[in-house]
Amino acid sequence: MRRPFIAGNWKMNLDRAQAVALAAGVAQRSAEFGAVDVAVCPPSVYLAAVHESVAGSPVGVGAQNIYFEVSGAFTGEISAAMAVDVGCRYVILGHSERRHILGETNEDVNRKVVAALAAGLIPIVCLGELLAEREAGQTADVIRQQFDGSLAGVSAEQINGIVLAYEPVWAIGTGKVATPDQAEEVHTDLRKILADRYNTAVADAVRIQYGGSVKANNAADLLAQPNVDGALVGGASLKVEEFMGIVAAAAK
Ligand code: PGA
Repeated sequence: MRRPFIAGNWKMNLDRAQAVALAAGVAQRSAEFGAVDVAVCPPSVYLAAVHESVAGSPVGVGAQNIYFEVSGAFTGEISAAMAVDVGCRYVILGHSERRHILGETNEDVNRKVVAALAAGLIPIVCLGELLAEREAGQTADVIRQQFDGSLAGVSAEQINGIVLAYEPVWAIGTGKVATPDQAEEVHTDLRKILADRYNTAVADAVRIQYGGSVKANNAADLLAQPNVDGALVGGASLKVEEFMGIVAAAAK
């Protein structure tokens, strides 16, 4: 049985006081939902404060990005070890905003996955097609290429500790959520890829989140799909009640 996993991607939002208050609110309510893994991913400058704010609760903290080098002259970047040092358990990698706005390639994502695993972080690796790719019938190919590129060289043992997030780019921040059937179709494909590249035990064990306009009022139908194991939530993770509504849907 895969444990449901709901993660909030706060992106570049909130100030310090708001971040600390939101984290405290999530931590306080999370005790009600022991069957669900919950994480919050604040901007990196607030990671330490948020980690302090959720201390003593089961809520995990995740970074939204890391750089793949261990240390050195990489102005503006943070390493995997630094993320661990300020309390991170997770790191979101390959988010479409980083791929498409900041120019990250599959190769970059792959190097970051390797660095994250080496530091003991759990990568949440995002994959997803653009609207034009979906309309051209290329979704399965795009997902397979991103999977192979982003996870090259990752062993069967390592992949067990990775979380995948299927995030169709056309559904992110648009209010246009994928239908439960659309999500399930890609999640099923991802399990087939996992079985092909690794084995069926891996395919059964790896958790696959859906992301893209998940809200408290649409989460239950998505999470009811057999291969949807959780959600990576953007906008709706910025309010305690809305986010905990999604966690509650995952607990059912
Ligand atoms: P959204 O973002 O929930 O605001 O669509 C999801 C994501 O980018 O992870």
